[in-house]
Amino acid sequence: MNDAVGTLNLTIRDVVREDEAVVRELLIAAFPSDIEARLVHKLRHCGALVLEQVAVQETGDVVGHVAYSRVTPAAIGSGQGLQVCCLAPVSVRPENQHTGVGSALITASLQTLKNLGEDLVLVLGPPTYYPRFGFDPVLARKVQAPYAGDAFMALALTAAGTDDLPIEVAFATPFEEFE
Ligand SMILES: CC(C)(COP(=O)(O)OP(=O)(O)OC[C@H]1O[C@@H](n2cnc3c(N)ncnc32)[C@H](O)[C@@H]1OP(=O)(O)O)[C@@H](O)C(=O)NCCC(=O)NCCS
Repeated sequence: MNDAVGTLNLTIRDVVREDEAVVRELLIAAFPSDIEARLVHKLRHCGALVLEQVAVQETGDVVGHVAYSRVTPAAIGSGQGLQVCCLAPVSVRPENQHTGVGSALITASLQTLKNLGEDLVLVLGPPTYYPRFGFDPVLARKVQAPYAGDAFMALALTAAGTDDLPIEVAFATPFEEFE
């Protein structure tokens, strides 16, 4: 899905193969090490990605990236039919940070996930950043996962995403090194 974002003159669109090298370079620039770049590579190649999008300027420059990967509910309880994914990582090119790119990218990609029928999105990150998109640490307490605490947050995109909790979930294998 293509999504042109108003005053920032950004287009939010799915990643294509030709973006992969520039996305890797963006990830390495945005994070202190290449851990996130390697994580995205592994998630892509194990087929775990639900959605991967970039924010592209009018010039064609890729300035932001976000990935969502499949999270598997345990095969017990009413939540076993939920479509659950996790947001990780999200990054904006250092020189473009604090200009609204990250917010535009996350807002547009969450709408795409809703259109795709995802019920619940999980994230592990700064509790000062993600609540502005509706992520809630209290809702995440109903999700039993290898992560806990206020940095672990959840956002329901459907009624079932709230109603069918609690659930126990497993993250895609490449996350094991972060547990
Ligand atoms: C986090 C990130 C994706 C946000 O994107 P962005 O385009 O800079 O964010 P926006 O312009 O939409 O929003 C800016 C606001 O986000 C908040 N914010 C940005 N980075 C933050 C962080 N690491 N922790 C907490 N809040 C943060 C601030 O409140 C900021 O407001 P300010 O400009 O008044 O300081 C971007 O800063 C980034 O790539 N950081 C490095 C990689 C990273 O830490 N990714 C997140 C991993 S969970």
